[in-house]
Amino acid sequence: MNGIEILVQEHDAILRMLQVIRKASMKVMKGEEIIHEDFLKMADFVANYADGLHHGKEEKFLFQHMLEELGQMGKNLITHGMLVEHDLGRLYMSELKAALSRVREGDEESRLDVIANAVGYANLLSRHIEKENSVVFPFAQRSLKPEILAEVDQRSAEFEKEQESKGLQHHYLTMLAELEVKYQ
Ligand SMILES: [Fe+2]
Ligand SMILES: [Fe+2]
Repeated sequence: MNGIEILVQEHDAILRMLQVIRKASMKVMKGEEIIHEDFLKMADFVANYADGLHHGKEEKFLFQHMLEELGQMGKNLITHGMLVEHDLGRLYMSELKAALSRVREGDEESRLDVIANAVGYANLLSRHIEKENSVVFPFAQRSLKPEILAEVDQRSAEFEKEQESKGLQHHYLTMLAELEVKYQ
């Protein structure tokens, strides 16, 4: 798999977690007790798999080249589109964690903020992924020079290996599968 194919494959795993997040939020909406441990696992997956592993590779290996090589159009697409959305996703997650703490302390109204930030994140990321798969990645593939794409592939492969040696992918994909059984 080349670097971009790996990113697309990770999108599939992230989309599955977004479904889990929506299902868990639905339970909160129906008045069920919030299982903090599960929400913290979802936030952990988002922080370390979706953001750390996946957005990390996009930002460091691919988007950086698009910014440098693809003129104003590349700049607009990356700086005002993709990077802003990565940041907005981080904001939703920090608000979600703050809301979870308030609920834990007995603040009933903050259940609303748990739902709002969890669902807001899921909607943002699913639109973001759709844009990357259909516009941003194809643009990179047809516009970046072959030697640059080869460099993206090489750096992605090295990074993947490094993370695999720590067991990161296995850990988070197992966590995803376990949560899917609970929230389907
Ligand atoms: Fe992204
Ligand atoms: Fe992505």
